[in-house]
Amino acid sequence: MGENQVVTVRRDGDIAWVEIDSPPVNATSTPVRAGLARAVAEVQGARVAILTCAGRTFVAGGDMTEFDRPAEEPHLPDVVQMIEDSETPFVAAMHGTVLGGGFEIALACAWRIAAPGTKFGLPEVNVGLIPGAGGTQRAPRLIGMMAAIDMACSGKMLDAAQMLALGGLDQVAEGDLRAAAQGFAKGLPPRPEKTRLRQVQALNSEALAEAKRALSKAAKGRAAPLHNLDALQWAALPFDQGQPRERALHLGLRQSDESRALRYAFFAERLVARPDAIAGVTPRELTRVAIVGGGLMGAGVAMACLGGGLSVTVIERDAAAAQAAQERVAGLVAAGVKRGKISPDAQADMLARLATTDTYADASDADLAIEAVFEDLDVKRIVFADLAAVMRPDAILATNTSYLDPQLVFAGIANPARCLGLHFFSPAHVMKLLEIVKTPDTAPEVLATGFALGKRLRKISVLSGICDGFIGNRMLAAYRREAEYLLADGALPHEVDAAMRAQGLPMGPFELQDLTGLQIAWANRKRQAATRDPAERYERIADMLCEMDRLGQRSGKGWYRYAEGSRSPERDPEVETLIVDYSAKRGITRRPFSAEEIAQRLLAVLANEGARIVSEGIAERAEDVDMVQLHGYGFPRHRGGPMHLAQSQGWEKSMEIMELVASESPDSWVLAPRGDPSAEI
Ligand code: NAI
Repeated sequence: MGENQVVTVRRDGDIAWVEIDSPPVNATSTPVRAGLARAVAEVQGARVAILTCAGRTFVAGGDMTEFDRPAEEPHLPDVVQMIEDSETPFVAAMHGTVLGGGFEIALACAWRIAAPGTKFGLPEVNVGLIPGAGGTQRAPRLIGMMAAIDMACSGKMLDAAQMLALGGLDQVAEGDLRAAAQGFAKGLPPRPEKTRLRQVQALNSEALAEAKRALSKAAKGRAAPLHNLDALQWAALPFDQGQPRERALHLGLRQSDESRALRYAFFAERLVARPDAIAGVTPRELTRVAIVGGGLMGAGVAMACLGGGLSVTVIERDAAAAQAAQERVAGLVAAGVKRGKISPDAQADMLARLATTDTYADASDADLAIEAVFEDLDVKRIVFADLAAVMRPDAILATNTSYLDPQLVFAGIANPARCLGLHFFSPAHVMKLLEIVKTPDTAPEVLATGFALGKRLRKISVLSGICDGFIGNRMLAAYRREAEYLLADGALPHEVDAAMRAQGLPMGPFELQDLTGLQIAWANRKRQAATRDPAERYERIADMLCEMDRLGQRSGKGWYRYAEGSRSPERDPEVETLIVDYSAKRGITRRPFSAEEIAQRLLAVLANEGARIVSEGIAERAEDVDMVQLHGYGFPRHRGGPMHLAQSQGWEKSMEIMELVASESPDSWVLAPRGDPSAEI
């Protein structure tokens, strides 16, 4: 659709109807801004102009694909001001989600009405920005400083009823929105003062300091929430002083690392959901799912599937285990009700779709089976043989294994094209990441069905090929390995952990191991011992802790010690002495590591392993690696991911650090091929 049709003006008596029709969300792209500017001229002479949008929503934000380029004319602040200054006053008649630039346009209209359930927001903060078209200047003038802070600094959305109560709406329109707008236009109240000419007080210094404290704490290293607070305070200045400051800051922030990383993450999330491997492939419908194993993972997967509207049958080893699984899943649903996330009606509906059994035949009509039994190849193979014997020959079979090779798990199963890995993360009903593992046999349709399932469960699904640990755990293993080399060479656990927390990670590698338990990785290292290259540097510190029964928080001690009933790690002299003695026995002269050096090394190792994963074709793109890190491992979203970070700091620089790391532990690291892996995109 060309520039001339995205905004249309239609006269109906003394009313001018202005309609934006720019799918999917009527974003304020250049054609929409140009169309609006033209519409303002065209409506002159009418008694009133009503601004509406076609499709599912009023203007739901800016067009982020334009943010990497210089802003094009006409600029949104000018268009917004034209609407505010129009001789013919505007009524915004809104539905759907009125976000960012859409809300800024609405703020400049003389009146605002909205369908019930309409949501309003200034989500610029979520992409590292502040509003750029008067949002921080007009919102406090219209709905008050505190409500504007809530919206702009935290990205919180308000609904129509809240907006009405704050004075941001003149009417919540029941029934047909256009009919309501027409009715409103018939009996127009006197034109109110232009929003930008109203007065609002800045917070006093005490309240400002308190707001800053609260925001800095929640910001976890992001700058945008505080920038929004600053800009909102400028609303106390005359508009022609505050607004240019807002605009300048907005344009400046478009170039910031934080905003670039957040925008990258936004687009990467959409990209990874559509891998090349399933382009143009239609997924199958899913209705019934069988889950084998109702332990920690199985129960979480069952909960997620129930939440996605599927019927779930959990198969366990015996009647008692089936009963325990039933209670586990029901407990997760009940916890959702308690936290207000699930209504009692939805709870009843979910439980009605849940069955537990110890009989495989009860799952014979399932469209998909997800196996989450013990991490043991023989056990899993028997499970799939039993499933294949009772299920339809084309029913999809999925394993949730963390480390086993799915090809071995599915060996001997008829029609291996229907087999894949669905690797959930713990707790499976909470964690966003789903690694979808493709074997050489997996049919595109089966893979596409995995992605459709991920979408239905509201996961971020990432395609992975087969390698030890798939994308995420393979990177975690490399990261931990270097962290342990650092201990042997001179760092202590709390130094490494603090260095990574300073990078925005919620936890460092050693605290994280204590939280999840050291035994799984220990079992894994033992499994790998037979095939490990003897030339590779292997530090036994973690093994020694395991041998001392220091298995993490659950055993009261691990890399740290924990006071009775406490989860806060405390440095343990016993561990630190063990590490220092260990280095001495290995003949290593310990040296100090700064927090910066620690972080640089660990980030370089992550980027290197990620680049190898891409170059080997395990992941399709750098974005896949980064989304695994963001949604499965707590990598801070405002840094984009280890690949984005390395790329934005200069790929060469990261690889130089990696070469240094590799030179200090010869024969232990495989370097990624030269060149920026994201350049291939
Ligand atoms: P778990 O020990 O809590 O649960 C396993 C369940 O499987 C138990 O309830 C057991 O009774 C049942 N089971 C065992 N053999 C069975 C059989 N033949 N038929 C039916 N049920 C059987 O273990 P968890 O932690 O839930 O792990 C399960 C799988 O998920 C493993 O393959 C693991 O590698 C994988 N996984 C685990 C993650 C974690 O963080 N725990 C994360 C991602 C994957």
